[in-house]
Order: sequence, then C-alpha cells, then structure tokens
Amino acid sequence: MMNNLNNNPNRILITGGAGFIGSALSRYIIDEKKDDILIVDKLTYAGNLESLQPISANNRYGFEQADICDKDVIDKIFTDFKPNIIIHLAAESHVDRSIDSPSDFINTNIIGTYTLLECFRKLYFNLPEEERANGRYVFHHVSTDEVYGDLEDDISLFTEDTKYSPSSPYSASKASSDHLVRAWNRTFKIPIVVTNCSNNYGPYHFPEKLIPLVILSALSGKDLPIYGEGDQIRDWLYVDDHARALYKVATAGRIGETYNIGGHNEKKNIDVVHKICEILDTIKKREDGKSYKEQIIFVKDRPGHDRRYAIDAKKIHKDLNWLPEETFETGILKTIEWYLANKDSWCKNILDGSYKLERLGI
Ligand SMILES: NC(=O)c1ccc[n+]([C@@H]2O[C@H](COP(=O)([O-])OP(=O)(O)OC[C@H]3O[C@@H](n4cnc5c(N)ncnc54)[C@H](O)[C@@H]3O)[C@@H](O)[C@H]2O)c1
Repeated sequence: MMNNLNNNPNRILITGGAGFIGSALSRYIIDEKKDDILIVDKLTYAGNLESLQPISANNRYGFEQADICDKDVIDKIFTDFKPNIIIHLAAESHVDRSIDSPSDFINTNIIGTYTLLECFRKLYFNLPEEERANGRYVFHHVSTDEVYGDLEDDISLFTEDTKYSPSSPYSASKASSDHLVRAWNRTFKIPIVVTNCSNNYGPYHFPEKLIPLVILSALSGKDLPIYGEGDQIRDWLYVDDHARALYKVATAGRIGETYNIGGHNEKKNIDVVHKICEILDTIKKREDGKSYKEQIIFVKDRPGHDRRYAIDAKKIHKDLNWLPEETFETGILKTIEWYLANKDSWCKNILDGSYKLERLGI
C-alpha cells in the first residue's frame, strides 16, 4: 500500500523496533515491502540491535537511539523524517518486571505514548490541508489483550467491545495508553488505529518470557518453573503473523478503529511446556536419554495472574482479510529450531548481559 497522495512508498516510524515484535515487523517491511522505515528505540535491556542485523545495511532502513519520553528529541526526529505512519510498539512489556518495579512502565507506556501523540499532533496539523485530507496519515498504537483482564469461563472471547479490566501494573499502563490514543482522536481529531493482540512467540524473543525461557532452560539443564498449576490459558500467535497483521492495519485499517489480533491457538501453559519438551526429546535428546519433562517444577503463582485470555479476531479477518498462517504446531517447531540454531550466537550474547534466566516478579 502506498501513501496515496503522491504514490510514494510510506515513511514509517517504528518505535520499539529493536524489541521482539518491532524487529519482526521491521524485517518484514524491509524484506517484503517497499516502504522506508526509521526505528526509534532507547535500547533498554529488551532492545537488541542484533535482531535488526539482517536488514541494517538496507538503504530503506534507519535507526535512532532515543527515549520516547524525550519530547525535544522526538519532535526533531518527526520533523526530520516526516513519517506518514507511526507504528508505536515501544513499551516496558514484561508483567513480572512491572510487579518488581512499576515506575518504568508508567513512564514509557503512559508518558512516552502521550509524548508521541503530541509530536504527531504537531506534525499532522502542520501539513498542507490537501495532504492531510488525501494522504494516509496514521498513528498506530500497538497494544495487548491483557487490557481486557481475565476471562472467567472457558468459552467467551475478547471482542473489540469488551470492557477494560486490567489486572497488573503492565496491563493497567497499556490500558491507560490505549485511552490516551483514543482520546487524542476524539478530542484533537488526529487519525489513529489501535490493535490489541494476544501472546506472541517466535524467534528473537527475550528469554524472560515463557517459551524462550523454557527452551533455553531445558537445553542448559535448568529447572522449568511452572507458575501455580500451569492451568493459565493463553492464545498464542506466531510473531511473523502479528507483523503481517500490523502492516495491514497501519496501511489499510479504517481510521479510528480498533482491531483485535489473535492466533486461534488457545493453550494451557503446562501444555505449551509439555509440547516444547516433546519436540526437544525428538530433535535434541538429553544426554541421559530421559525426557526434558523431568526438569519441570511447580512454583508459587504470580500475584494477580489472569487465568484465561482468548481473542475473537473476526473483525480483522472480515475487514482486512488477515488470518494467521502458522498453527501452534508449525510455529513452535520453527521457534525451537531457531533457538537451537542461534543458541551460541544471539542467545549467548543476550545471556552475557544482566539477565540469567532467573525468576522475576515474586
Ligand atoms: N510480546 C507480546 O506477546 C505482546 C502481545 C501483545 C502486545 N504487545 C505489545 O507490543 C509491543 C512490543 O512488545 P515486545 O514483546 O516486542 O516488547 P519488547 O520488550 O521485546 O520490546 C520493547 C522495545 O521498546 C524499547 N523501549 C522501551 N522503553 C523505551 C523508551 N522509553 N523509548 C524508546 N524505546 C523504548 C526497548 O528497547 C525494546 O526494543 C508492546 O507495546 C507490547 O505491549 C506484546
């Protein structure tokens, strides 16, 4: 999809592009599309330039290290790059860390989003009238299904109309940022879209999150901790499917709309861990011949842990013809193969930093 005024490729500013989902989106746009991208990322513990290495020599790619809370710097980046699409992914994203130390979540997720909205408002209202009326200008806010809180039964699904009921400091900060984005649309008439997505998994995922943590802990002979009884249900989406959905919404989604994105892959955490162990038992046997399941241990549950999340993704299918391409079975196999292939490079470099696969958020 082109910027429809002058038929040029889009100029897409991606915040948080050195993170897990942002880097998948950036690789997708450079590899498969024609748009220019500029990544704005503070490079916190979760940001990693190695995840962008496959595209970093491309002349449609740019990178600025900056904090989205720094208004002067962000203003200058907007003025210089003149994006017509902002895809905003930068966030503190780990629930356990939000329990240990909520302040970064309040700053980045709420103040950072506010700062970007104000910079976009300025850019948008400084445009010539004709361009504003006819060009594709949009602030795409990337959010989570965790804003909806807990599903108490086993059959309900989150729709775009489900009321917000966040449980953790992380989900409350994301809910707050969603409200700001919609209020800036309603009050100031800036063009926005919002997406709320289920749990992602795939390559380049920081190993504090369940799936990479289990894969890497299993391979290093460590315990595989399961919170509570492992009966929490999540709806898993392969990250490249999310990247395709984000691009569709950013370039063709209806202004002012919200789209839920999900994988139709509901799994209990314990079943996810069993599946990883079974695949490893087949493709990377333990030296003693026993199953990786022997490493599973049950630990005290996370405070405020929601039991079930599940997305109704009918709207994005009907309106934008998006469907996930991976099933959980195909996606998890690709993911495990990627971690095996990158254990001594990308994974080793990540674990050489301060994070050592330990438990957070108790
Ligand atoms: N991972 C999931 O399963 C999931 C699901 C739904 C929605 N989301 C949302 O998608 C977005 C991306 O998630 P992710 O898993 O890729 O996160 P991530 O933690 O892997 O990456 C976040 C990125 O944001 C950057 N960042 C953090 N604070 C910043 C700041 N103040 N200024 C600039 N950059 C900053 C980090 O350096 C990092 O590169 C988040 O907004 C998250 O809420 C994630």
